[in-house]
Amino acid sequence: MAEVKKLGTAKLTYEGNTIELPIFEGSEHEKAVDIRALRKETGMITYDPGFVNTGCCQSEITYIDGEEGILRYRGYDINDLADNCEFIDVAYLLIHGALPNKDQRDEFSRDLNHHSMLHEDMRHFFDAYPDHAHPMATLSAMAVSLSTFYPELEDASIQENIDFKVTRLLSKLRTAAAFSYKKSIGHPIVYPKHTLKYCENFLNMMFWTPVNDYQVDPVLTKALNKLLILHADHEQNCSASVVKMVGSAGANLYASISAGICALWGPLHGGANQHVIEMLQRIIVEDKGNVKAVIERAKDKNDPFRIMGVGHRVYKSYDPRAKVAKQMCKDVVARMGTSDALLDLAQELEEAVLADDYFVSRGLYPNIDFYTGLTYRAMGIPTDMFTVMFAIGRIPGWIAQWLEMREDPHGRIGRPRQIYTGPNLRAMN
Ligand code: ACO
Repeated sequence: MAEVKKLGTAKLTYEGNTIELPIFEGSEHEKAVDIRALRKETGMITYDPGFVNTGCCQSEITYIDGEEGILRYRGYDINDLADNCEFIDVAYLLIHGALPNKDQRDEFSRDLNHHSMLHEDMRHFFDAYPDHAHPMATLSAMAVSLSTFYPELEDASIQENIDFKVTRLLSKLRTAAAFSYKKSIGHPIVYPKHTLKYCENFLNMMFWTPVNDYQVDPVLTKALNKLLILHADHEQNCSASVVKMVGSAGANLYASISAGICALWGPLHGGANQHVIEMLQRIIVEDKGNVKAVIERAKDKNDPFRIMGVGHRVYKSYDPRAKVAKQMCKDVVARMGTSDALLDLAQELEEAVLADDYFVSRGLYPNIDFYTGLTYRAMGIPTDMFTVMFAIGRIPGWIAQWLEMREDPHGRIGRPRQIYTGPNLRAMN
């Protein structure tokens, strides 16, 4: 890993003492104060709920400039990747650091097909869940269950046969995701096919039935490739941090990713795509489509309501992924030859957000989840599968982040501290 540039020092003065802390600069000129020696030298810790100001690692994978709305994977702009690549190219890029050449791509694609089956005993796991089980719960359980059937990812020597290991994970989790959907609607599962590519295979496993010989639509395949690329990584976000925190204890990749899936499920994170649709449906039914009233509720500090799909910890301008997703959503709706009252409402809500000083002054813009759920809906994917789609897209990012963490010469077990405010020593009566 390339070393950061050292720029000089920052002085910290406290209780009559002064210490100097090194300043680092990353390759895009973001500066950081190195506080690793802080507690040893001063006895103090830092206080930063939500890690808003805390850099936990050096990373070469993803760059975000939240003020300018820039997102790059391994130096490539998200728009270029979404326009010119398939999802598996981007997965390869994130994991290996470079886009694949033709031979590497063919081999990766072959391996993904080769590993697409689930052990037949795992198929029976799906029968044990109730029909209404949320597919994110099932997916997380399947991720950790893979470790019992394919224990090679528990090896300490993770870099050995790494392609074999990660293709297994990428391919089998996609199959598990489709199985969980079939189970939830009571349909027979559809096995993966070697003749289909990664995204086509997923669509076929979702929509083929014994009574309907589903033909994969190339427009939907293209849209799915783009959506998964948009989801593929987002540096030290909540779920990636969870994956790395679990991995920092030495836990295997399956266990780490299973935990990441649970983190992604939360409505403030990837779960927002499902909650956007549910919010829009409520606005139509309960608020009779009154967007003004919804905006006022979101601004009311006594009301916990927030507009789902709006706001982001890092982006203080329009999320570049949301721009791509919005256009794609319109294209897919047009392709399906339908209209969607929820899309019309979403656009009206977006306009109201962009015109309101409450949102503008706080840098609150539509994020990736605002339009991706609507796109999945137009593709025929049910609402409670939206976050599963996000998870399938995010797997290469989690893998890349986990691998980088394991190779990091500065890496240590993740273990934040606290400021204790409870009672002092009390005597027992
Ligand atoms: N609606 C109304 N007000 C909002 C919203 C929103 N969606 N988001 C933030 N705000 C307000 C907050 O009330 C706060 O106002 P204040 O300064 O007057 O107190 C201010 O904007 C800053 O918000 P924070 O909660 O401090 O921002 P934070 O960075 O901690 O949270 C988050 C970011 C969780 C994404 C937040 O914007 C949110 O809850 N959005 C809705 C859920 C969502 O869409 N999540 C998906 C994010 S993308 C992803 O994870 C894949």
